[in-house]
Amino acid sequence: MAWPIIKGTAVLKALNDEDEGKALLYAAEILKKGGLVAFPTETVYGLGGDALNPDTVQNIYKVKQRPPDNPLIIHVAGMDQAARLVEEVPPEAFLLAENFWPGPLTMVLPKKNLVPDITTAGLSSAAIRVPAHPLARKLIRAAEIPLAAPSANLSGRPSPTTAEHVLDDLAGRIEAVLDGGSCSVGVESTVISLLSGTPALLRPGGITLEMLEDVLKQEVLDLTAERKGEVIKGAPPSPGMKYRHYAPRVPLYLVVGDYPAQRKQLVALTESFLMQGRKVALLLSLESAGICSAPVLRVLGSRNKPEQIAKRLFAILREMDFLDIDVIVVEGFDEKGMGRAVMNRLRKAAAEIINN
Ligand code: TXA
Ligand code: MG
Repeated sequence: MAWPIIKGTAVLKALNDEDEGKALLYAAEILKKGGLVAFPTETVYGLGGDALNPDTVQNIYKVKQRPPDNPLIIHVAGMDQAARLVEEVPPEAFLLAENFWPGPLTMVLPKKNLVPDITTAGLSSAAIRVPAHPLARKLIRAAEIPLAAPSANLSGRPSPTTAEHVLDDLAGRIEAVLDGGSCSVGVESTVISLLSGTPALLRPGGITLEMLEDVLKQEVLDLTAERKGEVIKGAPPSPGMKYRHYAPRVPLYLVVGDYPAQRKQLVALTESFLMQGRKVALLLSLESAGICSAPVLRVLGSRNKPEQIAKRLFAILREMDFLDIDVIVVEGFDEKGMGRAVMNRLRKAAAEIINN
């Protein structure tokens, strides 16, 4: 089967089961030979390669222009395969796996020597997850290897939630992308560390803090510094924390705080930008959509349904880079449930955070 090629990258889009089989075989062959294939997961697209091949992993960092001290997540088919990569699986990990795997949860566990140092950026721990997306699972099984896969974007860009986003960043840099349409969760997986006695949240994502605590029946330490607005001193618990991500081309102003006061602030800020003759893009909730007008207005979703907002967020941030605008103003959301993941990403994208 001849797949469409964009700048040297094969676009594997299957419309029926037979073609899907062929696409998976094609992708698995590339991966077995040490090549790179981007693939869909339920969170965002991953840039996959053999996690146990140091040359391949080096190439992942290079292609993504990723800082060498930011380790990768290893994607496996199930707990059996995960257990082969780590020294120990604590009872909490079994409990979490039972409840949330396959799914958007990444667990940090002590790694075995067989996992190359470059995959974990020199750390003695490895981050592992079992993705839920059917194509991701089939690909891991077909390739028969654990797949290191960071989000399939260039470092600093919003994570890709469609194959088109992947091609925008990586066409010509990878052998193929497996097109599975748009991702259902839209923000990256939750990262939890199980290295010490108390489980610690390193990145909020598809599985909420509340869900984790419910299952573990204990408090989970929230180490996501962005949420507290703290500056991280010394080595951060998760290297990814110290990088500013998702920065759009023009400055993004995030207005946070109490909802009624926040709305006033949002209107005042937008009007002052408009008075200065600046072209404003407003990103608002459904509930706030009518409060103010601007040259560009995008509705992110309902304040009561942060899952909706999460799903659309990265595509809308990416769209901003193609528009003739000078500044982006975004409404802040409640930091509970999925709202925590949404706000974590928005804080990282923001040039300035305005509190009332
Ligand atoms: O949903 C996701 O997790 C997506 C899809 C493709 O699975 N992947 C993803 O990977 O978001 P990436 O590389 O963009 O983010 C990995 C995060 C980084 O913040 C990194 O610092 C952290 O996981 N991480 C990886 N290994 C770690 C470790 N051993 N200890 C602490 N944090 C780790
Ligand atoms: Mg990423």
